[in-house]
This record gives sequence, structure tokens and C-alpha cells, in this order.
Amino acid sequence: MGIAMFFKSKKSELPDASQMPQIVADSGIQHIAFIMDGNGRWARERGLPREAGHGVGVKAFKKAVTLCRDWGIKTVTTYAFSTENWKRPPQEVKEIMRLLDVYIKEAEDDNDKNRIRYIFLGDKERLGEELRAKCLYLEDLTKDNTLILNIALNYGGRDELVRAVNSLIAEGKTEICEEDISSRLYTCESPDPDLIVRTGGEVRLSNFLLWQSQYSELYFTDCLWPDFDESELIASIVEFSKRKRRYGGV
Ligand code: FPP
Repeated sequence: MGIAMFFKSKKSELPDASQMPQIVADSGIQHIAFIMDGNGRWARERGLPREAGHGVGVKAFKKAVTLCRDWGIKTVTTYAFSTENWKRPPQEVKEIMRLLDVYIKEAEDDNDKNRIRYIFLGDKERLGEELRAKCLYLEDLTKDNTLILNIALNYGGRDELVRAVNSLIAEGKTEICEEDISSRLYTCESPDPDLIVRTGGEVRLSNFLLWQSQYSELYFTDCLWPDFDESELIASIVEFSKRKRRYGGV
């Protein structure tokens, strides 16, 4: 477990939710990203099929997004499905895709009140024609909204980098700079994440935002994603607000 675990605030020491807009503003956090790990274990611990954990995970995610938005965080990114997740049992993959389908429909219906711009990070080709079309429709429908919600779907950090480089080669570039690569990533509309939160106790990035995480602060918690509630989110942002970010300087 990362050493940061030892310095976490106790729940009773955490600020109240009403203080969060100020804490968010003072911390300078613009972009928070989530690796929503632990859904399967959460379900198994309750004698439920793994898929049930993903269903509760979507509810936890929706709550987290609403809180981030209300507290003034302008960009949220989540890892919904990786290029490696196709290796999971077909029934589980099918259920995740079904949950995404429902989520997209609700996002369309709530567009007027939510003010969220949805962007899907990843290769949409493998999603199937129907889901792909729905993703594209939601992106277009919400393109004028200002708060960005990136959903990584069939996403892999290395795959994203290879695609970026290949698109530069296809344009005939023989020499490239960092900005060229950044501008060809799926995340080209977003600043790099200030904070990446991973639940579920594993301490790794698992092919998520490899380029963009250069100076992201990393926060790992044993909390399983379906249990990630307001106090967990507060704890992660408070911890971020205490970090000294030096970007390689002193
Ligand atoms: C990781 O937990 C979770 C996933 C790979 C899928 C997450 C997907 C959803 C919550 C549903 C779709 C998302 C949205 C935004 C609508 P795990 O299954 O690896 O858990 P484990 O480590 O306990 O097995």
C-alpha cells in the first residue's frame, strides 16, 4: 500500500460538504479522474454476481460526478472499460455495455439540467454499430456544454499513444513535439488530470492516461468503488489539497 495511506484524514476530521467549493477553488483542482476498481469484489462479498457490483458502481459514479460538478471541478474522467476488459466473461462484458447504454439514454434525457459535455475516450469501432452511434450522438448533443465528462470506453493508454503517433506519421511529420502528441490524444479537449483516484486497493495505473498523468497526484484507497461516497470523495480532494506540487522544480 502507498505510504500516503498512513496520512489520510480520519472521517471525523474531514470538512463538511458545504466547505468543499472553497477547498476545491483553493486547491486549484480542475480535473479529477477515477479508476473505479472493486465492483466485482463488492458484489462477491455480498454473495451477488459480479455484474451487480457494476450496477451499484454506476450509482456511485453518478453521485461523484454530481458532487464534483457542484463543488466546481470542471473536468471529470472515468475508466469505464479498458481495451483489456474484453477478456472478461461475455456475460459481464454484456452487462457493462448494457449499463452504458442505459447511462447514455439517461444522459440524453437529463441534458437540459446537467450542463455536461460527454466525450468518450477510446476506439469506438469495437463497441458495435448501435452503441457507437449512441456515443457519437451524445457527444454531439452535449458539445456546447462546458463541464467535461470523459468516459474511457474501450480505452488503453498505450493504444491511444500509438494512434496519436500514427496519425502524425500519416500527416507526413518526421519530427514531433510534445504538443503534437497531446493534440492527437482522445483527451485533447481536457487539461491533464490534477488528481487520479483509484479505489479497490491496487496501487497502479493499469494503462490509464499514461501520457496525461505526468504530474497527476495519485490517490489510492482500499474502499471498493460501490462504497465510494461523499466522504471518500472529500477525503481524496482534501488529501490533494495538502500535496505540494513542484512539477520537477524545488
Ligand atoms: C473495475 O472493477 C470496474 C470495471 C472494469 C467496470 C466499471 C464499469 C462500470 C461501473 C459500468 C459502466 C460505467 C459507466 C460510467 C456507466 P472490477 O470488476 O475489476 O472489480 P474487482 O477488482 O473487484 O474484480
